[in-house]
Amino acid sequence: MSEARTDKPERRPENRVLVFDTTLRDGEQSPGISLNPQEKLEIAHQLARLGVDVIEAGFPITSPGDFEAVQLIAREVEGPVICALARTAKQDIDAAWNAIKDAERPRIHTFIATSDIHIERKLQTTREDVKGQARAAVAYARELCDDVEFSPEDGSRSDVEFMAEVIQIAIDEGATTINVPDTVGYTMPHEYAEMFRRLYELVPDLHKVTVSVHCHNDLGLAVANSLAGLMAGCRQVECAVNGIGERAGNAALEEIVMLLHTREPTLGLWTAINTREIARTSRLVSRLTGYPVQPNKAIVGRNAFAHEAGIHQDGVLKDRTTYEIMDARTIGLESNQIVLGKHSGRHALRKALEELGLRVDGAALNQAFQRFKEIADKKKQVTALDLEAIVSDEIKHR
Ligand code: KIV
Ligand code: ZN
Repeated sequence: MSEARTDKPERRPENRVLVFDTTLRDGEQSPGISLNPQEKLEIAHQLARLGVDVIEAGFPITSPGDFEAVQLIAREVEGPVICALARTAKQDIDAAWNAIKDAERPRIHTFIATSDIHIERKLQTTREDVKGQARAAVAYARELCDDVEFSPEDGSRSDVEFMAEVIQIAIDEGATTINVPDTVGYTMPHEYAEMFRRLYELVPDLHKVTVSVHCHNDLGLAVANSLAGLMAGCRQVECAVNGIGERAGNAALEEIVMLLHTREPTLGLWTAINTREIARTSRLVSRLTGYPVQPNKAIVGRNAFAHEAGIHQDGVLKDRTTYEIMDARTIGLESNQIVLGKHSGRHALRKALEELGLRVDGAALNQAFQRFKEIADKKKQVTALDLEAIVSDEIKHR
């Protein structure tokens, strides 16, 4: 493997980024997706093979089917922490705990909104009440489970000083992870980073817990914002395979993982993900959710490692790294792809013909190339059958 990476930096334990996968919870909240327990289990097993640190398996209070799915995953999937979501209500926390208590390493994730817009218009309560609910929920969850994550929902639109008070309360009550979501995908990278800088200043004990980013993609900034949070000191990233999730989705797991992998020499941040399982995981999630992956999607789109333009094909055939910053094999594909279309050049044509066992040079190649361009102008992609026809025409006309 020879990415654009030139050296292998020393991996520092404090720069390890935990990957918290929420495909089965926030991802499943995408309109039109409803996975049954067996399908969720199949994805969870694949997420374990991929090497995620935490699987957020679902929101057990929401339906008996989701409870069953989370319980099945907790009982059968080994390796990652298995997490369930709960609002601050006692019955939510009980449902979450009952679903995950058989896991090797269970986690309860509880949340309440801290932005005024949510407190006043959605919860129709007061800041004082939110503090009380956060305190009671984390304390109760900690009675049940050693591993408790707390999220101030709509964190990026919250008054940072008030949110800091709520976070300190959650830490005092025993929260082990603090996740600050950009619930509505509104923030920008420099703002999200600045918010964490302020939180580290305002919450004296923040450095004692894992701090996490959770970004939505409403403005297409979920991965950029996640990176900004990690660069500001967070060490858990919440993300979903293929970027599925509420509205425009969550930060895409494959993008954030390959970003950290490809730019590790610069960033120094790393994950324990087995990147060779990325393509397989993406295909499985797409098949079971019925959500297709757009062709030009970063990392896992079918064009992510395909080259059509002649200049690019010529470069890649001479040295892959001229136009590729990642090796397709790193994410578990067999190779990159040279696609023959109207932008392709002579080198790519000759290579494709050679792969079909057809050696054509000199004037014959020129003529075949001319014929190929005529066909390519009429079709989106030129196939092996077309190439064979071109060459046999060529032979007939000689
Ligand atoms: O986006 C969000 O705020 C959430 C929380 C429940 C963490 O998904
Ligand atoms: Zn979310």
